[in-house]
Amino acid sequence: MLSKTILNAFDTQIKNELEAAYLYLSMSSYCNALNFPGFSKWLRTQAQEELGHGMKLFDYVHHRGSNATLQAIAEPKASFKDIVEVFDVVYEHEKKVTALIHKLYEAALKENDYASQIELQWFITEQVEEEQTASMIVEQLKMIGDNKAMLLMMDRQMGTRGVA
Ligand code: FEO
Repeated sequence: MLSKTILNAFDTQIKNELEAAYLYLSMSSYCNALNFPGFSKWLRTQAQEELGHGMKLFDYVHHRGSNATLQAIAEPKASFKDIVEVFDVVYEHEKKVTALIHKLYEAALKENDYASQIELQWFITEQVEEEQTASMIVEQLKMIGDNKAMLLMMDRQMGTRGVA
């Protein structure tokens, strides 16, 4: 069984992952309204991936003989200045999730919870990739600037991402 502290920390992280899913789904809707089907699909896929992260943690809690208690999910941001702001927010959000995962890992270290440390290593690795991807998209969008033709090309390319 997980200790009370670690269980509470996992419950919070399940909520964080689902909150990320909700935010990205909200962004997907915003991009759809802007007639960017590719960005919209990419974010929808990302939302599914976040849901998968939440479920992975949910299952882990149960595998450890504990029970997850679901926490309230905040209403996501729904309006943005432009597509650059959308991905700026994605990048900032991923950095925040990384910090939260690291905090959770530190708690597992402090309690000598070896199984949780191993479980969280997957998330630590995943965050490196997630931050790198988000940062690259932000930089590419900045390069493109106001060039609408390039933006439409990028939208098409983003839409090639497979379903999670
Ligand atoms: Fe599950 Fe993008 O962090």
